[in-house]
Amino acid sequence: MNYNKKSVEDIDVRGKKVLLRCDFNVPLKAGQITSDKRIVAALPTIRYLLEHGAAVIACSHMGKPKGEWKPELSLAVVAKRLSELLGQEVIMARDVVGEDAKAKAAALQPGQILLLENTRFMKGETKNDPELSKELASLADLYVNDAFGSAHRAHSSTAGVADYLPAVCGFLIQKEISIMGKALTDPARPFVAILGGAKVSDKLNVINNLLEKVDTLIIGGGMAYTFLAAQGCGIGKSLFDAEKVDYCREMLQKAKDKGVQLLLPEDAVVAAGFPDPIDGPIETKTVPVTAIPGDMLGLDIGEASRKTFGDAVRKAKTVVWNGPMGVFENPTLAAGTIAVAQALAEADAITIVGGGDSAAACEQLGFADKITHISTGGGASLEFLEGLELPGIACLEDK
Ligand code: 3PG
Repeated sequence: MNYNKKSVEDIDVRGKKVLLRCDFNVPLKAGQITSDKRIVAALPTIRYLLEHGAAVIACSHMGKPKGEWKPELSLAVVAKRLSELLGQEVIMARDVVGEDAKAKAAALQPGQILLLENTRFMKGETKNDPELSKELASLADLYVNDAFGSAHRAHSSTAGVADYLPAVCGFLIQKEISIMGKALTDPARPFVAILGGAKVSDKLNVINNLLEKVDTLIIGGGMAYTFLAAQGCGIGKSLFDAEKVDYCREMLQKAKDKGVQLLLPEDAVVAAGFPDPIDGPIETKTVPVTAIPGDMLGLDIGEASRKTFGDAVRKAKTVVWNGPMGVFENPTLAAGTIAVAQALAEADAITIVGGGDSAAACEQLGFADKITHISTGGGASLEFLEGLELPGIACLEDK
């Protein structure tokens, strides 16, 4: 994939109406935003456009309303927060490409910002319907995509609209692809990747692609147990994906053939069952992975693994991390994830954390400001690491 895309700085935006796709898919609880990280991440591009005399027509999806009008997924709550952060009014449209949006877009002046309603209220959005793409395009003179978190979706507002308007990226996409793109194409070495999370099946292609690039691949979290089983370890009641055992063997062999060091946990924090509630009290013990009792399951990496993984990370010059090492939501089972986050924070390296759980872990644990880059994309950052072409980026003009 070509990561060298034109940005807002490569075009003249003055006096133009700019359709700006953001990822305002923020978490909500009882109608309130629980993290405004994605809104904050969109600010540099929004401010640049407003300061350079553009009229900004922002749009985004939220949740999965599947073409239905769901008031609880209205972007009005985002308009309110965005307006507080920008210190100026954010005009809210009552629809996406309906009469209200069209009238407000037509009347919009340079320096003003309008937010359209949730693009997924339109049935055509997720189908990348050309009619919807055309209607969106008709509101503006230029298209700027800054929605990295949605860049793996080929939807009308993330990709289709680029067929009808000059299309460039914003600063967030530019930052995401320049840092992660460099790691994948020309990393400072040693290059260490750490993968965790529950399921091997979620990371099949990431493992395969990263084995082409890294010097060391560390696998922890629930997915490590299928790898350990593939090596002949008894894993008790730990997470096990029987269908992926052959794949794990293949990957172990591939690592050997490529001379990549593949590190699996040496020891595990085990318990009789999964914690319920997830953050409730739990009785655990640490055992070598070769001695996991048949009636117990591994829920975090043990102390020896924490040291080995941490040492490898601290020696690296580029580190990519995606997925927790254990059930980090539980204080008794968080030590592995904390150790990895801490090692990233201490490493004298370019450190990149894929979105989702590992990003949340870094933030909750207070390491976020010591990491070079925490991606705003969950699925998007994984597909990026798989080496896939992201439609929301591929559709933008090359430099
Ligand atoms: C995300 O939260 O990962 C993005 O906003 C994409 O959302 P989606 O998985 O509903 O497309």
